[in-house]
Amino acid sequence: MSTKNNGESIILAIDTSCDDTSAAVVKEGKEILSNIVSSQNEIHEKFGGIVPELASRRHIEIIQAVVSEALIQANIGADRISAIAVTWAPGLIGSLIVGCNFAKAIAYANKIPLIGVHHLEGHIYVSNLMNPVPRYPFLALVVSGGHTSLYLVKGFKNYTQTGVTRDDAAGEAYDKVAKMMGFGYPGGPLIDKLACKGNPRAILFPRAYMRDSMDFSFSGLKTAVRNFLNKAGRYPLQADGEPSEYKDEDICASFQASVMDVLLNKIKEAVKREKTERVLISGGVAANSGLRKGLTELSDKLGIEAFIPPKNLCTDNAAMIGAAGHLYYINNLFADNSLNPKANVSIIDPQMREMKG
Ligand code: KG4
Ligand code: ZN
Repeated sequence: MSTKNNGESIILAIDTSCDDTSAAVVKEGKEILSNIVSSQNEIHEKFGGIVPELASRRHIEIIQAVVSEALIQANIGADRISAIAVTWAPGLIGSLIVGCNFAKAIAYANKIPLIGVHHLEGHIYVSNLMNPVPRYPFLALVVSGGHTSLYLVKGFKNYTQTGVTRDDAAGEAYDKVAKMMGFGYPGGPLIDKLACKGNPRAILFPRAYMRDSMDFSFSGLKTAVRNFLNKAGRYPLQADGEPSEYKDEDICASFQASVMDVLLNKIKEAVKREKTERVLISGGVAANSGLRKGLTELSDKLGIEAFIPPKNLCTDNAAMIGAAGHLYYINNLFADNSLNPKANVSIIDPQMREMKG
């Protein structure tokens, strides 16, 4: 099998890191020829969160159809694929194993090189699918259901972690609060929608600024919302069906205001500390209307450039893995068939610098 690149790249990318099964075909790391995302929301909704075993079982059922559809929509045969890029870490281990093994099988059967991509590099290099593309160095806030981290991206494989959550990810707080309020999963889009119609100053929830650090913390906010709902007779949901004196819209808007104040404050602080002029947001929570509006306003105020991907590229998708995979491809960083998924690996881990899969 050739592991040298031959100029143009057409990458078939696969992401099964969490609960979405996704496959994409990306040309030259910047042009999306197809991007299929099969959501499992209906499966996990009734549990108010992802059930890992159900997620991996669904990936097994659907992955072949999703990959075939990606190739059909791109109008590309396996013979034209330069490499297969797959998320190998981090994520739910049972889910990662399905995507990795599927990618290995196609790579082996078609004699196509294999590339192992770190999921957060996908969220960062979603930036290469944008127009314009941010120049290095840029600040990247990756904010999703599993992660809330700020990185200074100085080049491919050259990342500094500016801050990271010490407990829950922001998206996790959204999902847990939605569950407490009796909404479905994922909680982020539902809370966001209600928040748009509510008063963000109705309830003053805490903001964990942790002024001596660039880290984040959202578990205290989650507990504060739980205590508030308890006191307001909303948790567990009022047995007598009496309406609470607080409107859902106001609770959601006040919770969202707390999350966004912290995220935007940290971005502002990091821009100052790192003297950066470009900020990217990505990950599911970057689809949030409050964050998108807040960053646009902040960038105008600070005179910096904000890079806000379209919503469908903020949430998990394989096109971003294809964009990152292209960088591996042009740097001849290929994996072999021993590629072994891992649930937890940081992109600033020294092994990531030499990562060949
Ligand atoms: O990036 P993603 O699809 O998967 C992970 O890598 O975690 O992010 C999913 C997370 C969920 O927690 C979901 O509630 C949150 O992103 N999310 C949102 C919004 N859309 C998705 N959170 C706030 N506002 C939104 N509009
Ligand atoms: Zn993600």
